[in-house]
Amino acid sequence: MTNPVCVALDTPDVAKARALARAVKPHVGMMKIGMEFFYANGAAGYETVAAEGVPIFLDLKLHDIPNTVAQGLTSLLKLAPAPAITNVHCSGGFDMMKAAKDAVGNRVKLIGVTILTSLSNENIWAAGFDARQTDEHALNLAKLAHSAGLDGVVCSPHDLAAIRQHLPRGFLTVVPGIRPADAAVQDQKRVATPKSALEAGADVLVIGRPITGAADPAKAAAGIFASLK
Ligand code: C5P
Repeated sequence: MTNPVCVALDTPDVAKARALARAVKPHVGMMKIGMEFFYANGAAGYETVAAEGVPIFLDLKLHDIPNTVAQGLTSLLKLAPAPAITNVHCSGGFDMMKAAKDAVGNRVKLIGVTILTSLSNENIWAAGFDARQTDEHALNLAKLAHSAGLDGVVCSPHDLAAIRQHLPRGFLTVVPGIRPADAAVQDQKRVATPKSALEAGADVLVIGRPITGAADPAKAAAGIFASLK
């Protein structure tokens, strides 16, 4: 099988990110670089890690008016090598997502963030969303992302079944909130094991601390990949 594990290199430190990338790259299919790294190190830091040769998911979760997001993505596509996947927040709306997709075309897979996996129903209600549950919001946002032409979504493992039921199979699902059975849940609230997320239809499993926080990250990544077979 191709390796669906995407390790989240959640550190602002270039040397640490590169060392982690080198250690785990035989056991992962992708690496995720997030805002804490990119804001600190910019294009040069990104290119140092990307030079390790593993496809990059650049997780910057853009959320602004359509023109600004489109221009932001155009700037990001100057990175070499370009990321394999990058993303915007679906709650930026249809017009923003469409402008974003028009700006990148097929040069990168553009996915939408639905509802963060750290948010519970109470959290989204407190933030002023209406009284629907997180899963209804996530499905609604996934449908909106699909109609705007996005290639897929970031979603919780718990949202996978509904997304698989209502959207075409080719619509990419990138899934954080993954915890091996023996790992601590930490701040994630809607979690699943790697195998159960894969069986529920996840295409990419985003896994951070269970790998990066392990005494031996390479062994942890290899163990997770082995658990999928
Ligand atoms: O350490 P852990 O496995 O919880 O890391 C999950 C990664 O996925 C983090 O980089 C986090 O920012 C990201 N993420 C998430 N929930 C989302 C989108 C991204 O946890 N909805």
